[in-house]
Amino acid sequence: MFTKRFTNLSPYTPGEQPRDMKYIKLNTNENPYGPSPDITEFLKSMDADRLRLYPDPSSLRLRTVISEYYGVNAENIFTGNGSDEVLSFCYYAFFESSQGPLLFPEHTYSFYPVYTTFYGIDYFKVPLNRDYSINLEAFLKKDHYTGIIFPNPNAPTGMGIALGELDSFLSKVQKNRIVVIDEAYVDFGADSAVSLIGKYRNLLVVQTFSKSRSLAGARLGFAIGDGALIKALNTVKDSFNSYPVDAITQELGIIAIKDTDYFQKTVSEIIKVRDEVSNALLSLGWEVLPSAANFIFIRKDKVSGRRVYEWLKKKGILVRHFNQPGIEDFIRVTIGEKSDMKLFLDLISDYKQVDK
Ligand SMILES: Cc1ncc(COP(=O)(O)O)c(C=O)c1O
Repeated sequence: MFTKRFTNLSPYTPGEQPRDMKYIKLNTNENPYGPSPDITEFLKSMDADRLRLYPDPSSLRLRTVISEYYGVNAENIFTGNGSDEVLSFCYYAFFESSQGPLLFPEHTYSFYPVYTTFYGIDYFKVPLNRDYSINLEAFLKKDHYTGIIFPNPNAPTGMGIALGELDSFLSKVQKNRIVVIDEAYVDFGADSAVSLIGKYRNLLVVQTFSKSRSLAGARLGFAIGDGALIKALNTVKDSFNSYPVDAITQELGIIAIKDTDYFQKTVSEIIKVRDEVSNALLSLGWEVLPSAANFIFIRKDKVSGRRVYEWLKKKGILVRHFNQPGIEDFIRVTIGEKSDMKLFLDLISDYKQVDK
């Protein structure tokens, strides 16, 4: 009844969205502030008759606004239904096992291995450095691979890679292999590689409106890269679903990009709260990996990540725990509103349990 390829799937497990009680949700890296107030105004006055018609399949106005913001051409932008979809199309267009495995960091966004199963691509996990940063040198030691993907900053560690390092890395990568840099969290303090796309035609940068522009519910992501790569993504899209970005979301994206004041205000508030919370945790004896994202990855000597996650959940705070060897002692905590983070800090300073 079911195909072999279907029975082989091992799908991604999204962060919990529980309905049993009201939690303070610090588990899925959503933005604690709403989207731009201009979006609220637009939605209040939207003419529902627009929904009679199919949306622009190429999202041209949206792509033009994004391209102006990043100083590139509209031909350098591809938009999709969340960056997850954009990443999936990248796998389809650029990676295949006959060329070798896809390389990504050992601890990273857990969707990467899921797509490899979906598309039947081999992969190799490149170990992190001892300090949990991405080891770009180790990527360069591999000479047989179909492509490379990593987030900057990495998830779930939050650690960023500086632009100079990325530039030097890209200069050494084989020119006929695509490097996808997933910049889902870049606006919270990491270096974007967008300025390098003119220099490296095999570089594709993928970003999202879900985090820094608080539009996770609208599903909007995009890629920036050389025209030939963008054309390839369009071919995949038009072989699958010509209208992945609906008419409302195209408008929301345009409004969100244009409201630079609100964007800067909310992003800098999240960064400020992140740094305050990190310092408070350090003084409570927690180890906090240096974060350039809207979350922190923390652990404490003699504390089990799973137990502290369960304890916080019972107390009404949801964080994320990854049951993976090497990072099982950590919990990942999304930076929420200041008041929620105060509650989190008050609670965690009470965690006196010695787990091991
Ligand atoms: C590293 C990374 N990339 C991509 C995504 C996907 O974001 P979206 O599909 O909402 O654009 C996420 C979401 O959490 C992420 O953590």
